[in-house]
Amino acid sequence: MASSIAIVGAGRVGRGLAHRLHRVGWQIGAVVTRSKSTARIAVQKIGAGAAYSAPTRQILSAEVVLITTPDDAVAEVATDLAELGGKEWRGKIVLHTSGALDRRVLAPLADFDASTGSLHPLQTFSGRAVPELEGVVVAVEGNRAALRVARKIVRALGGIPVTLRGRDKPAYHAAGVLVAGHALALVEAATLVLMSIGFTRRQSNRSLLPLMRQMLVNFERLGPRLAWTGPLSRGDYETIALHRQAFRSFPREFSDAYLALSMLAARVLSPNPELTESKVQNAWKQSSGGRT
Ligand SMILES: NC(=O)c1ccc[n+]([C@@H]2O[C@H](COP(=O)([O-])OP(=O)(O)OC[C@H]3O[C@@H](n4cnc5c(N)ncnc54)[C@H](OP(=O)(O)O)[C@@H]3O)[C@@H](O)[C@H]2O)c1
Repeated sequence: MASSIAIVGAGRVGRGLAHRLHRVGWQIGAVVTRSKSTARIAVQKIGAGAAYSAPTRQILSAEVVLITTPDDAVAEVATDLAELGGKEWRGKIVLHTSGALDRRVLAPLADFDASTGSLHPLQTFSGRAVPELEGVVVAVEGNRAALRVARKIVRALGGIPVTLRGRDKPAYHAAGVLVAGHALALVEAATLVLMSIGFTRRQSNRSLLPLMRQMLVNFERLGPRLAWTGPLSRGDYETIALHRQAFRSFPREFSDAYLALSMLAARVLSPNPELTESKVQNAWKQSSGGRT
């Protein structure tokens, strides 16, 4: 089984995964970014590898190539790599780490008989410290050889490989984005609301973090329906109307998001979605004197 790997696009994910793989015995080959300085930093953080500021034939020395560029660059990188190695790609394994894309984006490499696939940790990498990967779900997808290596990598990292169909990846990834990126936008919006009435950021964090933690504990222990609290869960529609008024001095996105989330909660949490949705709409209209 393969145990040498080159990293193309060594940013937050590339550096993090390579660092962990190095620690469990993988050989790190070429580490490629777009500048010598970022490549050197990446090698330093990984603790191994050779820094390059552009695709290099050294990449072909590794048995596995992990493309960890932003999603929008993967297709172009695959084309560049295919041109670089041509028939030498035969038998190599090339994986990318995009959550929404599947192996089809690596078609130029598959055309030269590389085995292609993807490996996406359902975890957030800030770049500061490598997040915990023990027990983390990692979506894997690809042809047979690529899948075998992807699963081996995931297990080496302590993660749980979950095999997806390529066409299901956008839905899988959208689910993750709802609870990570979008949830963070909610936290920041709530913080700004508290700060507008005099809380410091520190006080806001102190207020919101225990609330969110307990919500997650309740969700884990009780499931979504029993963990659901707040005015909508109780049918306090007049409170929802007050909330709309409280958002008057905020940018439109605050009240738009609040309404959209209320409707979503009605749809996915309420035992009677249609009735709850119509009551939310009515409360919303009334709070603005009939305007929507
Ligand atoms: N961050 C997360 O939480 C997370 C979690 C799971 C999966 N992912 C996926 O992992 C991938 C990387 O995300 P990331 O957050 O690690 O991105 P990132 O921190 O922005 O790093 C991207 C890296 O790619 C390099 N790069 C950009 N364009 C390139 C190109 N055309 N050719 C070669 N290298 C290029 C950058 O070089 P420079 O350093 O020189 O700018 C950088 O090293 C994405 O597919 C993302 O969807 C991200």
